Amino acid sequence: MKDPSSGVLFSVPYEIAVVRPLRQTTLKEREEALRAAYYNTELLPQEMIYVDLKTDSGVSSLSTAQLSTLLGVGPLESGMEMAAEGNKAFVSLSENFHKLFGFPYIVPVAQGRAAERIWAKMHVKEGSVVPGNMLFPSTRFHVESNGGKVLDVISDDAHDLYSAQLFKGNIEVKKLEAIFKEHGEKVSCVYVELCVNSCGGHPVSLENLKAVKAIAGAHKVPLFLDACRILENSYLIKQREPGYQDHSIQEIVRETCSLADGCTMSALKDFLVPAGGLIATRDEASYQKASVQNFLNGSQPPSMVMETMSTALQEIFVNDSYVRSRVDQVNYLWRRLKDGIPLVTPPGGHGVFIDVKGFLPHVPAESSPAEALAAFIYHMSGIRVTKGPPLAPSQTARGVELLRLAVPARRYVQGHMDDIAEAVQYAYSRRDEILGLNRVEKPGRSRFEPALFAPV
Ligand code: F0G
Repeated sequence: MKDPSSGVLFSVPYEIAVVRPLRQTTLKEREEALRAAYYNTELLPQEMIYVDLKTDSGVSSLSTAQLSTLLGVGPLESGMEMAAEGNKAFVSLSENFHKLFGFPYIVPVAQGRAAERIWAKMHVKEGSVVPGNMLFPSTRFHVESNGGKVLDVISDDAHDLYSAQLFKGNIEVKKLEAIFKEHGEKVSCVYVELCVNSCGGHPVSLENLKAVKAIAGAHKVPLFLDACRILENSYLIKQREPGYQDHSIQEIVRETCSLADGCTMSALKDFLVPAGGLIATRDEASYQKASVQNFLNGSQPPSMVMETMSTALQEIFVNDSYVRSRVDQVNYLWRRLKDGIPLVTPPGGHGVFIDVKGFLPHVPAESSPAEALAAFIYHMSGIRVTKGPPLAPSQTARGVELLRLAVPARRYVQGHMDDIAEAVQYAYSRRDEILGLNRVEKPGRSRFEPALFAPV
C-alpha cells in the first residue's frame, strides 16, 4: 500500500493463475550440472534452474487473456503472405498500434533482429555512417553487414558506472553534431535505443530526444528508435524527468514516438510475448518495401504471434500500474544489493548490472571473472545469471566487465528477489574463493558458439 489517501494502491496488478513447479536441486547436483555445462551458465539445462536471470526477453508470464487468445480459433487463421491487409490479426494489431503509438504503418516480424535486418537494408548502404547510443549487437551487426559504420555517441556518463546521472542513455549532442560535421551526407540515419541494454538499462530523456531530432531534422536525416523497452523508458521519464510526473505512460510513449520517423522493435520485452517484433513507420512506400522484404526473408510472424501482441498492447496501457510494478521490482532488487555490492548506478528498467571488476578485483580479465562469478552464484543458489549480450566496442575499449541480472517481467515475486539478493551477497562474502575460469578450446568449435571453461 503506497498511498493511503486514495485507498489501497495495488503494488502488484495481477495474481498468479498458472504456475510451473520447480524441483529443489542439491549443491552436489548443481556442481555436476556445472561440470557438464563446462562452467558456462548459459549451457545449463532449464530444469536445473531456480530463478533464471539470463534474459528479460521472451520469458515473461502470459496473461490469462493472452492464454485464451492462444487457445482460441485466431491462431488457426492463415498467415499474412503478400496480402497482409486481408489478415484479421494483422489488421487488429496495426489498428491498436496506430492508436497507441501513433505510427500508421507497421510490418510485424518474427523478432526484433528480423526488423533490424530489413530496416538496415533499406536505410544503410556501403559507406553510410549511423550515429547511435551504444546500440545492441544485432542492430550493429545489421548496419555493418550493409556496409555501414556505427559511431557511438552515447553520453560520457554511460561509461562512468557509478555516476548518478539519471539519463545515462542520452546521446551526447556535441558528439552527434561533430559527426554530422565530419561525415555530412554519409550519415544515413540516427538510431537511438531506449533504456540502453548494454550499459545498464539506462533511459533516454525526452529533452535529449528532442535535441537529437532537431539536429537530425536539420540535416534531413531520419531518426529511428530501437523501441523494445519503450514502456520502461517512459516510466523512468515519468519518475525522473521534470515536467512529466503527471503524464500517463501512454502519453509519454506517444510523445516519444512523435519524435521518431520510424522504429524497430522486439516485442519479446515490453510487449510480454514469447515471439514477435515490428517495424513502425509513417511512410507508406517504406511500409510496402519492408513488407515485401519481410515476405521474402520468411520473417513474417504467424497470426497467433500477432494476436498475443495485440492482446498485450491492450493490457499494458490499461493503467500505469503494470509498468510501475515491473520497474519497481528491478529497483527493489537494486536497493537490496546496493549497500556493499558494486552495482551500475542508477538502476535501469530491466535488470541490475554488477561491476565485475569491483566485485572480483583479484581475478584478471583473461580468467573470465564474470563467467566465474555466474558459475559460483549458480552453484550456491541455483540462480542462473549470464554475462548477457556482448559488450559494445566502446565498453570493451575501456575494459568494462559487467554481469547482468536480467529480470523477466511479471514472472517472479519478491521472495525470488530476496533469494537473489542473498545469493549475490553470499557470493560477495566468499569472493576470495572465486579464482576465475580458463577457456577450453575444442577443435572445430566456432568462436560464435558459447565458450567452454574449466576452473583455474
Ligand atoms: N534490441 C535490443 C535493445 C535488445 O535487447 C534485443 C534483444 C534486440 C534488439 C533484439 O531483439 O531478440 O527479438 O531479436 N535482447 C535480448 C537480451 C536477446 O537478452 O537482451 P530480438
